[in-house]
Amino acid sequence: MNAIEIRGLTKNFKEKQALCGLEMTVPMGAIYGFIGENGSGKSTTEKLICGLIHPSSGSIRLFGKPHTDSDVRAKMGVLIEAPGCFPNYTVWNNMLLQAANLGIKNPEEEVRKVLKLVRMEGAAGTKYKNCSLGMKQRIGIAMALLGDPKLLVLDEPINGLDVDGMRIIREVLVDITQNRGCTVLVSSHVLGELEKVATHYGIIRGGKMIREMTAAELEADCRTYVALQARETSRAKALLSCKYSRVEEDESGCLRVYDQATPEEVVTYLYDNGILVSQLQTAKIGLEEYYIDLMKEGR
Ligand SMILES: Nc1ncnc2c1ncn2[C@@H]1O[C@H](COP(=O)(O)OP(=O)(O)OP(=O)(O)O)[C@@H](O)[C@H]1O
Ligand SMILES: [Mg+2]
Repeated sequence: MNAIEIRGLTKNFKEKQALCGLEMTVPMGAIYGFIGENGSGKSTTEKLICGLIHPSSGSIRLFGKPHTDSDVRAKMGVLIEAPGCFPNYTVWNNMLLQAANLGIKNPEEEVRKVLKLVRMEGAAGTKYKNCSLGMKQRIGIAMALLGDPKLLVLDEPINGLDVDGMRIIREVLVDITQNRGCTVLVSSHVLGELEKVATHYGIIRGGKMIREMTAAELEADCRTYVALQARETSRAKALLSCKYSRVEEDESGCLRVYDQATPEEVVTYLYDNGILVSQLQTAKIGLEEYYIDLMKEGR
């Protein structure tokens, strides 16, 4: 059984079609990184999953049940845009209120627990309006964690977080998926950060899912390349381009040779043509470059 199964999902906002037959499969226990450019339909998909808006057509099943099922809804934690907090209430009181709304049995204990998870215990007495952007994000995540959800839907949760904040959220996501049987759907533009925790990816464009894959598939798909620095960069580039089909130069004048070239082969070839290589390494493209390449393909 999958945590989320979406088939043929369409959403029209008057004349605007935000989603056009979206397909999505999120396995149980996944941290599913949901990626796509601005306006591609990530938030719309997440709002539909959470029942905040209604689909024009198509189906959304959560844990094998329709997404409108009340049992399923009770298992969900959500952070889409800002959490609904009262600015003049303290963080503690806002959290208690939310816990009461959710019908949580030991609200004080539960609030203490989730604030501790995101390391925001120290902010309990602060009025919500006086919290920084990053604090608000972490409080929003803590709210979404109230009641031990089995499905957590987070829309750009790491926006505005500092390095430490991001690390804490990463640890929380790994903990709840590995130790508490939770599944996480998380959209983000911070691909380098997402890559550190995601087990699955979905890439959306223009309201359609253009690729879904596991982290292992991404890893296998991410080509290796030889990166080098040579004194005569433009001549080296021209020479390499004669032999290899893809040669790129980055802003720092470093050349990248794809096509499974070995470093020995590249250095020897340049040396034979009178060019000395000063720096050499092999590397793999990451999620960000993979994504940029994929986006270029479709243009
Ligand atoms: N309530 C609405 N009324 C009209 N159009 C909407 C509404 N909500 C979203 N849209 C449109 O639907 C499309 C998808 O928007 P959505 O917010 O889902 O994108 P997104 O992928 O979350 O983008 P971002 O990365 O900027 O957050 C956009 O063209 C947007 O303008
Ligand atoms: Mg969005």
